[in-house]
Amino acid sequence: MNKFANYFDYAAATPMLSEAKKAMEPFLIDKFYNPSALYLASKNNRQALQDARQVIASDLGVKPLEVIFTAGGTEANNLAIQGVLKNYPKGHVVTCDIEHKSVLKPVELFDHSIVAVDNRGFINLKELKKSINNNTVLITIGYANNEIGTIQPIKEISKIVKEIKEARRAKGIKTPIYLHSDACQAVNYLDLKITRLGVDLLTVNAGKIYGPKQCGALYVKTGCNLKPLILGGNQEHSMRSGTENLANVAGFAKAWQIVRQDFKLETRRVANLRDRLIKLINQQIPQATINGPFNDKRLANNISVTIPGFDNEILVMKLDEAGFQTATGSACSASGGEPSYVLKAIGLSNPKANSTLRITLGKYSTSKSIKLLAEALKKATNK
Ligand SMILES: Cc1ncc(COP(=O)(O)O)c(C=O)c1O
Repeated sequence: MNKFANYFDYAAATPMLSEAKKAMEPFLIDKFYNPSALYLASKNNRQALQDARQVIASDLGVKPLEVIFTAGGTEANNLAIQGVLKNYPKGHVVTCDIEHKSVLKPVELFDHSIVAVDNRGFINLKELKKSINNNTVLITIGYANNEIGTIQPIKEISKIVKEIKEARRAKGIKTPIYLHSDACQAVNYLDLKITRLGVDLLTVNAGKIYGPKQCGALYVKTGCNLKPLILGGNQEHSMRSGTENLANVAGFAKAWQIVRQDFKLETRRVANLRDRLIKLINQQIPQATINGPFNDKRLANNISVTIPGFDNEILVMKLDEAGFQTATGSACSASGGEPSYVLKAIGLSNPKANSTLRITLGKYSTSKSIKLLAEALKKATNK
């Protein structure tokens, strides 16, 4: 059995690919040079940075200039939201109530509307439309939810945004409106072609795709007016100053190449394991209920399961003792705090939210490992 077969918390972190680590190594010692210096060794590093940018840009179908490397998904989300709103301080921003905190917290700094999701976590497009006003400059909706796996209809949302852009243009209104999506959980499994998605800004993250942590990127469409949050030496097209972390970026690009080259196949494999594991859980624990949508409307690797009467922290600990790493419904409840706001937003009571486990699969999950996990869960729920 592989080393990570019993790991089921891929939404939190992914083990780094050895190829990604290998791609990083030269830049830690031998090729430590600052990509901005003038000598040849630095020029080569500058080229390596551009090569990495090209990998991500060409897969997204965008220009390399439109990819800004950041220190992770949180920073990219902040750059998208605060970057747009800093240019339009009286502007209005729209999001929904199950977004990651790195979206919700910056949104709260500005005039905002939060659209409620339905009981499977989907945004209601009519409500979304209603929430947009003449000052709305940004709509930020995550591509796939990290707790319940809901895949939002980003293409439909982008049609709405396009209509508003056209209506404003026709009326001579200069206020822009941009669409941002946090795709941190989506890169392993979903279509990312920007022309198809129709977004102006997209957050991606290396730490969720078997690359290094504290590394990510923001796609910024040409013409999308952002103010940088980190000022200094004007690296990253002046959008993110600071000497580039070339080792991380090289590891990110290598991981990206590897996961994206066969992501459709891997999506089918993992979704199949997910559905079999859901079936096993339903058979062995009849009182268990699954939260979020099913089939291809759900992220391939996500299971959110409520087992009434059982405390999720205790279940996580029991499973850990049995050798399986899983998560509670939210990071907050994992640290002894409030029940998950995502689960509450889809209508779960506090006790149900506190009886919910998040099981997320990945590259090293197997038919055998899901069977063993289902058995361990059955044991853990035998009172
Ligand atoms: C949907 C989503 N957005 C943003 C983040 C934050 O990414 P990072 O930890 O790289 O800052 C995460 C990580 O948990 C996430 O799942």
